[in-house]
Amino acid sequence: MQFSATSASLLSSRADSLILPTGRQLKAEAATLNDALDGAIEGLIKSGDFTGKLGSSCLLHIPGKATKRLLLVGCDTDSGELDVPARDKVIAAAAQQLTAGGSKKALWISGALPGTSQPDHAVLAGAVARIFTTAGYRYNKGGASKHQPSKLASVSYWADTRSAVAAAKKGLAYGGATGSGMNLARQLGNLPANICTPSYLAKQAQELAKGNAALTTQVLSEAEMKKLKMGSLLSVSAGSDQPAKLIVMKYEGVKGRGKPAPTVLVGKAVTFDTGGISLKPGAGMDEMKYDMCGGASVFGVIAALAELKMAVNVIGVVPAVENMPSGGATKPGDVVTSMSGQTIEILNTDAEGRLILCDALTYSARFKPAAIIDIATLTGACIMALGGHASGLLSNHQPLADALLESGQQSGDRCWQLPLWPEYDQQLQSNFADMANIGGRQAGTVTAGCFLARFAKQQRWAHLDIAGTAWLSGAAKGATGRPVPLLMEYISRQQGK
Ligand code: BES
Ligand code: MN
Ligand code: ZN
Repeated sequence: MQFSATSASLLSSRADSLILPTGRQLKAEAATLNDALDGAIEGLIKSGDFTGKLGSSCLLHIPGKATKRLLLVGCDTDSGELDVPARDKVIAAAAQQLTAGGSKKALWISGALPGTSQPDHAVLAGAVARIFTTAGYRYNKGGASKHQPSKLASVSYWADTRSAVAAAKKGLAYGGATGSGMNLARQLGNLPANICTPSYLAKQAQELAKGNAALTTQVLSEAEMKKLKMGSLLSVSAGSDQPAKLIVMKYEGVKGRGKPAPTVLVGKAVTFDTGGISLKPGAGMDEMKYDMCGGASVFGVIAALAELKMAVNVIGVVPAVENMPSGGATKPGDVVTSMSGQTIEILNTDAEGRLILCDALTYSARFKPAAIIDIATLTGACIMALGGHASGLLSNHQPLADALLESGQQSGDRCWQLPLWPEYDQQLQSNFADMANIGGRQAGTVTAGCFLARFAKQQRWAHLDIAGTAWLSGAAKGATGRPVPLLMEYISRQQGK
C-alpha cells in the first residue's frame, strides 16, 4: 500500500473515497463537506443512520463525482476523549471497510477527531499507515485461495498545514514499515509447521539480508551450537528430525567509531510445540504452529528497521527448534547443562521455550548489548492472567521496564509488568540440578521469568510473554503481528542515544 500526505483542497481530491472521522458534532472539515454535499451528513445524523458512536461507520455514495464515496467513521466516546485504543478503533473501522470494498485510492481527513484539536500528525499518520497496511494483509499460500487481495492501493493523509503534512510524511513511512513488519510476522506465524521449519526461517533470514548493506545474517548449525555447549537448547530439538538453527540478524544503522551498543532482541521460535514427551492434549494443538511468533516478531522488526534505514543498532537472535517426542527425545527427569554452565533438571519437556531462550540469552552477552529483550509465547498462564489485551512484562531493570510500558501505551500494543521476586524464584529449586525447568502450578508466567532471569544477571534484560497477544483463536484465527509496534516504538526512542 502506498501512502502520501497532502494539504490540497479537499473538494478537489481525486481519491475515490474520502474518510471522515467525526462525531455527531461537525467540526471544521466535517462542516465544510456537509455544506458541499447540501447537508447530507447532517441528514444522516438526524435520521439516525449515522450515530457517531466510536467505531461505527456509514458509507455515502456521491454520484457524478470523481470522489465516489464518503465514509463517515464514528469518534464519539463517553469521556469525549480519544485515547490510543479508541483512536485505533476508529482507524480500524475505516480500514476494514475500505480494504474489503471496491475503493482503490482513499483520502484520510485528519483534524476532525474529537478530543484531538491539535493532533500530533506524525503519530496519527503513523497509526493510519500501520492499520491500513495490516488491514490489507491476506494469507495466501498454495493454489486457489478464497481470499481476494485488497483493491485498496493507496491512502493519502490530508492535513491543513504544510508543517502538518511534513510531520505526517514521517509518520506514514514509520507506520507503513511497522505494518509491513507486522504482516511479515503474521505470515510466518500463519504458515503451517510443515513449511515453516527452523531451516525455512533460517532461509528467510538470509533472504532478508540480501542486497541490504546494513543487514547481515548468520545461521548457526547444531554442530556449531554443540561447540558452544548449548546443551539446553539442543535438548529441545533432540526429538525432532528438523535440525535446530540459531539465527542471528545484525542490523547496523549506525556504523563506525562511537557507534551505540546494540539492543538485542531474542525471539522464541518453536516452529511446532507438541510438548515433547510431556505431550500436549490433542484439542487445539494445531495452534502450536504459532509458537514461533516471538521469533517472527524479531523478523518483523528487523525488516521494518531495514526499510526505514533507522539510525539504530539492533541484533535479532532467533533460536529455532521443533519440539517433538521420539526415541531420541529428552525425557522428564533428564538433566542438561546450559551454555552458562548452570545445570537444569527438565521436569516437563513442554516447558521448552525457556530451555532454548536461556542459551540464546547467554549467547547474546557477546554483543555487549545496551539491553536484551526476549519475546516469547512462553506460558499458558499469561493468557489466564492478561488475556489477549496485554503482553506480560518481566524485567531486572526498572528503567527498561518503564520504557517498554510507555512504548506500549504510545503504540497501543500494551504490556503489563509482573514481579520477579526471590520468593517466586525459589519455586525452581531442584534436588538434582541447579534448577528445575518448571516452578509448579502457581504463578507460571512469573516463574518462567525467574528462570530466564538466572541467565541474564549481568544484563539489562526484559522478557515479553506474548502467549495471549501473538494470535487470535476462533473465527478470526491467525497471527496478530504483535508486539512489533511496541518494539518499534521502544527502538525508535533509542535514536541518538
Ligand atoms: N508454547 C507454550 C505456551 C503456550 C500455551 C502458548 C498455550 C500459547 C498457548 C509453552 O511451551 C508451554 O507449553 N508452556 C507450559 C509451561 C508449563 C509446562 C510449566 C504451559 O504454559 O502450560
Ligand atoms: Mn511447550
Ligand atoms: Zn512452547
